[in-house]
Amino acid sequence: MMDYSRTESQNMFPEALLHTFQKYPTPFYYYDLAVLRETLQRIKTESGKHGFYVHYALKANANEEVLASVREFGLGADCVSGNEVKRAVECGFASEQIVFAGVGKNDAEINYALGKNISCFNCESLQELEVINGLAATAGKTAQIALRINPNVNANTHKYITTGLEENKFGINLWELEEVVGRLKELKNLYLTGLHFHIGSQITDLSSFKSLCLRVNEIQGWFVSRKIKIENVNVGGGLGVDYHAPDTNRFPDFAAYFDLFKEFLELRPGQQVHFELGRAVVAQCGSLISKVLYIKKGVKTNFVILDAGMTELIRPALYQSYHKIENVSREDLTAKVPLPAPCKYDVVGPICESSDCFGKAVTLPETFRGDLIAIRSAGAYGEVMASEYNLRDKVKAVYSK
Ligand code: LLP
Repeated sequence: MMDYSRTESQNMFPEALLHTFQKYPTPFYYYDLAVLRETLQRIKTESGKHGFYVHYALKANANEEVLASVREFGLGADCVSGNEVKRAVECGFASEQIVFAGVGKNDAEINYALGKNISCFNCESLQELEVINGLAATAGKTAQIALRINPNVNANTHKYITTGLEENKFGINLWELEEVVGRLKELKNLYLTGLHFHIGSQITDLSSFKSLCLRVNEIQGWFVSRKIKIENVNVGGGLGVDYHAPDTNRFPDFAAYFDLFKEFLELRPGQQVHFELGRAVVAQCGSLISKVLYIKKGVKTNFVILDAGMTELIRPALYQSYHKIENVSREDLTAKVPLPAPCKYDVVGPICESSDCFGKAVTLPETFRGDLIAIRSAGAYGEVMASEYNLRDKVKAVYSK
């Protein structure tokens, strides 16, 4: 179990950054590409030790600058919509590096991906297999597919981001396998290359991944006993990050993560193992930078009202997620402790919803109109989930050099 509960007392944004932030109209996402590259390097080193293949889950952040770095480090692309496949193709990912998952692929998306000869459709139901088979036949192609199996393993994470339990809509249930495999033999325009699993996201208890490995071993046994060859085992993504300490614990423990799969996954000769990491790749390189519009008196705490809200970062409103909040203008950036007389504030956005709140009773130095506030660890599922509710402007991105 990784201990991600402590909060840092220290603000570690370099002072020069404040001057950079002051140059741009707020709100905006700021991406530190050096942090991204170091994260990618660690992934490459640790996965490479075991010959594992890592795909990046575009759903976490599909910005072209981010994808350019991901591609540079040789990761593949895990897509969940036709437009994500298109973005991956446009950003230079080779077709054999692109996989397409998702419980509801429509015909146009499937046809587009068939046309691009992507390496694998991760299929989630019998009906989807039949549809892809029909469309592939019309196109005169054979689609490479993997069966996404719902392993019924608990990820011990927030219920909205749990995907591998029977009650979730994802994957083919274990009790459906016999029927699916029987029918697959008749679907002549499909070629089964592998099995796919994904149990959830923001998983910090690595024992959930051990449970996944043990279940995958059992399921593999089932296929072996039926003499069905499996070339690829895709164990999905889900590795969590430390939202409480984005500076002192900036990189997830990739060594422990990949080593665990090496230790517990029983592979057959020649089998390849694939991963689909999203959050662990990009969360810590991004911050949402916002300006204080007003300080307003409240009953117990005062409100800091920002010019960014749930339209720019919906995670706190949707999943009650914690993000570290810093006053970049007021913190003594070189001090080991915050300035004297810190105050407690409810940090909220301008949107007409009470759930538009980034944090309650947040300790900050005394804060004033015009101060710049950083909401940390926002590189994953931040900008991609932004909306234009209240007819807000589309949020912009700024990149470190
Ligand atoms: N593979 C599949 C099939 C997935 O559904 C997901 C994420 C991933 C890979 C990547 O998972 P990651 O490594 O990022 O945990 N919006 C939520 C997270 C939703 C995750 C959806 N699926 C959040 O902000 O926490």
